[in-house]
Amino acid sequence: DAYVFVMPEYNFMPPPAFVNAVDYLYAEWNGKPAAFVSYGGQSGGVRAVQAAKQMLTTVQIMPLVEGVAIPMVGEHLDSEKGFIPTDAHNLAAKVTLDALVRWSRALKAMREG
Ligand SMILES: Cc1cc2nc3c(=O)[nH]c(=O)nc-3n(C[C@H](O)[C@H](O)[C@H](O)COP(=O)(O)O)c2cc1C
Repeated sequence: DAYVFVMPEYNFMPPPAFVNAVDYLYAEWNGKPAAFVSYGGQSGGVRAVQAAKQMLTTVQIMPLVEGVAIPMVGEHLDSEKGFIPTDAHNLAAKVTLDALVRWSRALKAMREG
């Protein structure tokens, strides 16, 4: 009923694997919301997300404005504990998931209507 894409940024764009995955399907995407967790350097991957949103509207996905952006992702990685989020990351994740639940309910009703 909803998607969360975890996305790095390569040359200001989404990775080719994302483009390939979107191209591979169609009906499975239709009428569903999507949010992003993006990461990279200073931009936190937001340029890649903006490009991805434009592509997703073509397959009738509703991209959300809420999302989690993680600039300088390497600074939040621990060799033993993995990713260590900040309070801001956690808050953004909560806001994003709450919005995704609301949109998923609304669009489920739309698909069944
Ligand atoms: C070819 C290449 C291009 C990249 N371009 C960007 C970029 O435009 N913006 C950015 O923030 N990071 C960029 N990066 C850094 C990647 O986002 C970073 O290495 C990230 O960890 C890659 O994710 P992955 O290891 O999950 O594939 C680039 C890295 C590579 C190898």
